[in-house]
Amino acid sequence: MSELDVERIREDFPILRARQNGKELVYLDSAATSQKPRQVIDAVTNFYTGYNANIHRGMYDMSIKSTEEYQRSKELAARLVNAGSWTDIVYCRNTTDAINIAALSWGEPNIKKGDHILITDMEHHSNIVPWMMLARRKGAVLDHAGLVDKSFVDMDDFERKLESKPKMVAFTHASNVLGTITDAKKMTKMAHDAGALVLLDCAQTAPHMPINLKDIDCDFAAFSSHKMLGPSGIGVLYGKEDLLEQTTPAIVGSDMIRSVSFDHVDWNELPWKFESGTPNIEGAIGFGAAVEYLNGIGMDRIREHEKEITQYAMKRLAELGNVKIYGPGVDRMESRGGVISFNVTGAHPHDVAQIFNSEGIAIRAGHHCAMPLVNQVLDETAVSRMSFYIYNRHEDVDKAVDAIAKVEKVLRLKKS
Ligand code: ALA
Repeated sequence: MSELDVERIREDFPILRARQNGKELVYLDSAATSQKPRQVIDAVTNFYTGYNANIHRGMYDMSIKSTEEYQRSKELAARLVNAGSWTDIVYCRNTTDAINIAALSWGEPNIKKGDHILITDMEHHSNIVPWMMLARRKGAVLDHAGLVDKSFVDMDDFERKLESKPKMVAFTHASNVLGTITDAKKMTKMAHDAGALVLLDCAQTAPHMPINLKDIDCDFAAFSSHKMLGPSGIGVLYGKEDLLEQTTPAIVGSDMIRSVSFDHVDWNELPWKFESGTPNIEGAIGFGAAVEYLNGIGMDRIREHEKEITQYAMKRLAELGNVKIYGPGVDRMESRGGVISFNVTGAHPHDVAQIFNSEGIAIRAGHHCAMPLVNQVLDETAVSRMSFYIYNRHEDVDKAVDAIAKVEKVLRLKKS
């Protein structure tokens, strides 16, 4: 497999020529949101300047083109994750929105008093709170499977929790804090054997590695465009066709209706049944361009690139002696994505992020919207995090390592 030509790729990202605090921008926060190539920016601009019109509502050329491009975007998204059909792809705002739609539309009629819902200790708030609220409304129980080595789902505990016969098992495909990639296929099979449906949070995997939803066999999946080179405000809820057919939409009105009278309503066909109101058309078109861009590189090459740079960064950070790295070790790269959460001994992560910023380096620090994991499992108030994508190179890692030396100097840290 050939290596990525990162310098060539970087030419497609105008923002990477920007400067921050007088320094060349080093962007190490792609787990929060990715940068956008000019192909995506052009696709959105071309929509606005060439054929801005609503979908499904006009008999004129611009509206027909807008409708076709919107649908083509879904076809691209479906193929990217091997979803089966583009009609299984519901567009919404983002991963959080997608999980909420599933929890409301499927959860409301199906979760009853005393039922169990199972998540894991490495979930983002977006895959905790919608289920917590649903459980509260219904008098259901929200269980969470623990971790081993503060890194991996404890499969024994997961199996034990499945003995309660949960109706839904919702878990992440990759932790946004630990970088851990879960064994989604195995966990889905175990959940199905226990009689549960599965929702897979793919926010941190769809942008970074090949995904085969048919093979994993999850019932729902969620991911966001903005983390995979596309615009913000557009995301995917994938659902198996029969499940989406059986599910009554929770948010209703507009184009998602086939016919309505004052006492009756028929839903539109899939996937429109779940898309109420004028959607984010420009977002969908930009997302389609992002998927084409990713396809042009190849998801398997992207995964290899991120594995390589993450491994390099972990080795360099380990050499420093005063940096604690969370998540799977460098010997477990098969189960690790391009995210490294770390703490510099004696330094608050917010100070670290600010000093990095003064060097032109963008990282995230805090609880990363995974407070139960960061506060209770890792026993930290916050962690710093660098995350990689197709435009990152060893040079970026080297600058981050140099910035840690500046952290030590500014905060007058003594190495033990
Ligand atoms: N969930 C995103 C992150 O991890 C925003 O930063």
